[in-house]
Amino acid sequence: MIRPLTQGDRATILRLLRDTDMFTEAEIAVAEEQLDIVLNQPGQKDYDIVVIMDDDVVVHDGGGRVAGYLSWGPTPLTEGTYDMYWMAVAPDKQGRGYGKRLVGWLEERVRSEKGRLVVIETSSLPKYNPTREFYLGLGYKETARIPDFYKPGDARVIYIKYLNQE
Ligand SMILES: CC(C)(COP(=O)(O)OP(=O)(O)OC[C@H]1O[C@@H](n2cnc3c(N)ncnc32)[C@H](O)[C@@H]1OP(=O)(O)O)[C@@H](O)C(=O)NCCC(=O)NCCS
Repeated sequence: MIRPLTQGDRATILRLLRDTDMFTEAEIAVAEEQLDIVLNQPGQKDYDIVVIMDDDVVVHDGGGRVAGYLSWGPTPLTEGTYDMYWMAVAPDKQGRGYGKRLVGWLEERVRSEKGRLVVIETSSLPKYNPTREFYLGLGYKETARIPDFYKPGDARVIYIKYLNQE
């Protein structure tokens, strides 16, 4: 099940981000900021966050059922372009289709809003090789690479998918 973010998910998501061992504290702080915008500013339209629940866990345990999450929003000053800002699946739940379902949900949602284009950015560092394979596997195309963007030797890699060309 994929559902909107609730306050009870906050701590679980922060733990999940740390558990992936992929993000710096500064990156987690930015993710946290986004969680708080969505939780505390109900009228804002810049960001939306959904969580996917673990299929295997039946009993509610205060947010422990969250297997992963995804944040996204309309790209400012565009018509029909959307950014996927952030996503992560708990390490012990990766490779079971949760990430694919989250991105599939996003694409359906963007389509339902008459959106055309989804943009995803990530890092070129080797530790993100599996993540980039994941995006390629979902039909995203690498469209740009900005060398030394995040830091020397760490490029910004931009993936896109035009939803009306499928
Ligand atoms: C990237 C991530 C979100 C993928 O989620 P996931 O639930 O593990 O991925 P899924 O199980 O849904 O995999 C979907 C497809 O991608 C493929 N895939 C997943 N990981 C892959 C890998 N390491 N190498 C190659 N393909 C991979 C799967 O084989 C699957 O393909 P299939 O449907 O043909 O079987 C997750 O691994 C993660 O949280 N990684 C760490 C954090 C991160 O990198 N977040 C993104 C920041 S930009």
